[in-house]
Amino acid sequence: MYSLSKKTQDSYINELFDFLKIPSISADPKYKRSVNKAASWLSKSISKAGCENVEIIQTKGHPIVYGEKLVNQNLPTVLVYGHYDVQPPDPINLWKNPPFDPIIKKTEIHPEGAIFARGSCDDKGQMFMHVKALELMVQNNNLPCNVKFMFEGEEEIGSDNLEIFIRKNSDLLKTDVILISDTGIISNSQPSITTGLRGLSYMEVTVTGPNRDLHSGLYGGTVANPINILCEMINSLKDKNGKINIPGFYDDVKKVSEKERVEISEIPFNEELFKNSLDIEFTSGELGFSTQERKSIRPTLDVNGIWGGYTGEGAKTVIPSSASAKISMRLVPDQNWKNISKIFENHFKSIAPNSVKIKVTTHHGGQAYVTPTNNIAFKAAHQAYEKSFGVAPFAVRDGGSIPIVPMFEEILECKTILMGFGLNSDAIHSPNEHFGIFNFFKGIETIPYFYQNFSELYKKASLI
Ligand code: BES
Ligand code: MN
Ligand code: MN
Repeated sequence: MYSLSKKTQDSYINELFDFLKIPSISADPKYKRSVNKAASWLSKSISKAGCENVEIIQTKGHPIVYGEKLVNQNLPTVLVYGHYDVQPPDPINLWKNPPFDPIIKKTEIHPEGAIFARGSCDDKGQMFMHVKALELMVQNNNLPCNVKFMFEGEEEIGSDNLEIFIRKNSDLLKTDVILISDTGIISNSQPSITTGLRGLSYMEVTVTGPNRDLHSGLYGGTVANPINILCEMINSLKDKNGKINIPGFYDDVKKVSEKERVEISEIPFNEELFKNSLDIEFTSGELGFSTQERKSIRPTLDVNGIWGGYTGEGAKTVIPSSASAKISMRLVPDQNWKNISKIFENHFKSIAPNSVKIKVTTHHGGQAYVTPTNNIAFKAAHQAYEKSFGVAPFAVRDGGSIPIVPMFEEILECKTILMGFGLNSDAIHSPNEHFGIFNFFKGIETIPYFYQNFSELYKKASLI
């Protein structure tokens, strides 16, 4: 629809660089000012793009950036959501270039170059595609629908304050569909639309034994060692077939039809390439399910971090007073994350030997989500990808989580289209995160097609 001159392309990239330079790490209170700075930068950027009624809404945590471009009340409305906060860059020494000093480098997968920086793909780069796509449509006077932008700074820490905001502002946020670019595609030659997100329940456990660290010679063999106990307890959470050993865990898991399992097996996926990309000889997971199924339609449980005792230089003979772990579970429809957190807590306490004390806390969580494919919004997205890539997209249920999406469904009663452009190899949350230049401009090309298609299909549907 639009052909961008080299000069325009460079200016978009330069603007994105300025955005990426702001270390908006939501998890770390030390970066609060930077998070605010990113919100303020973004509010100016969406004003420049043509948004009106632009607001930075303060919350108990990080601010929400809102803006809208309403063209005609007879046209449908699209609410675009994104997040301008990023994950901490740690471990920092594994970055080949500093995480907040963006640089373009060519890679095998991105021969046209990719932007390396924390947040380039997740989600500043993808969110910025929407800002530029709107700017183009407004400049060319062909925005075919109403657009609302709502960008938050707390996605990576659970979106608690956004939930409060949308509960209070459902009138302001009234929309026909929600559009998000915060997921990925299969490859740059094979697009896909994400039609599922897993839920999440994130827990922390602490096992406490003696009231202080002890000399392991004087006390070893006489008291419970919290690290040993924690390891035994964690080990018991899964059986040898990869099934989760928590009574009731699978009770609400919705059965996936054979038809859907066949469809999943038809999605292009190369197990050998998958293993090679991770330098592993074998994959591992729940017996009876393929790798694709294991990371999309099946729940799982993983330890995300574990600590206790002495981990410094050299050796120290010590029995630690306590040991802790962060444990998260990815959930599927219709598991309820609050219920699962409770079940986990009760189970974990029940399996503890009486030689230790147990503390279990819930961090955050969210519900799983599945996008229906029999509506005009999905059709509009499907046609948009087909037009920009020249290849029809697959519908793929993904393994990650965006907890606000099921909230949109619950509170705004509105479906979400997950129109992402990242690749799994883009290293989101990892050192050297990047986002392809090709992907960035494909996004800017595809988004206006979506608006156009959605608006046309909406008109047709309302004539019937
Ligand atoms: N954008 C990701 C989620 C994602 C990425 C879904 C790729 C599907 C494909 C999002 O920013 C994220 O990282 N979500 C967190 C959950 C959150 C509550 C911390 C996750 O999935 O771990
Ligand atoms: Mn994200
Ligand atoms: Mn993320």
